[in-house]
Amino acid sequence: MAGKSHELVEKNLGLLIVLICVSISFATLVEIVPLFFQKELREPLPNMKPWTALQFEGRDIYIREGCHVCHTQMIRPLRAETERYGHYSMAQESVWDHPFLWGSKRTGPDLARVGAKYSDEWHRVHLMNPRDVVPESNMPGFPWLATNKLDGELTGKKLALFRDHFGVPYTDADIQGAKAAVQGKTELEALIAYLQQLGLAVKERR
Ligand code: HEC
Repeated sequence: MAGKSHELVEKNLGLLIVLICVSISFATLVEIVPLFFQKELREPLPNMKPWTALQFEGRDIYIREGCHVCHTQMIRPLRAETERYGHYSMAQESVWDHPFLWGSKRTGPDLARVGAKYSDEWHRVHLMNPRDVVPESNMPGFPWLATNKLDGELTGKKLALFRDHFGVPYTDADIQGAKAAVQGKTELEALIAYLQQLGLAVKERR
């Protein structure tokens, strides 16, 4: 009997395809659906702080300049990765990250834990011309960031959007003060402020 039905499936391509799809979908659902109900995966780590207005603008510059095209922010739970970069990435770290910046290509190293690894000055020199601090680097320089200034016109709106749509706990004072907090600062300062907080919530736990 079992042999017969097996033969039936093997000789009937349409049926085989349908059954393959059913079994793959089922296996996928079994893996994914329980995650929707695990509340702790949808809550930020206890010591996570929302980005400041300046860090927030820095993140937008990170996206605009395509840093995520060469850098991941996703450490896999493999020994080679955790020894090099630190604690593997956790779902909770990304609850406020819309869109998340995990990336998928590592031309340069992962940046998920780069916060506080270097001084602000190191980042400044590195972003202006990476080869001044890492001679063999093939990362491009981003010198215009040092002259572009933020006007902060939209910063408050951005924070409000993240609060209202994604539940990031910004206060009214954060939103009202956002423009003044970034106005006149350079894009380089904003980007460095963003980089310097990456992974701190996890590093500080240990
Ligand atoms: C074309 C690919 C590429 C792009 C685009 C790129 N990087 Fe890099 N990045 C690299 C490479 C390669 C390295 C390793 C050599 C070095 O340190 O310069 C690196 C290194 C770094 C490091 C040092 C990491 C460490 O742990 O030592 C930081 C920080 C960094 N990049 C930030 C950025 C930021 C911010 C941007 C966007 C403004 C960016 N990178 C864009 C390729 C890139």
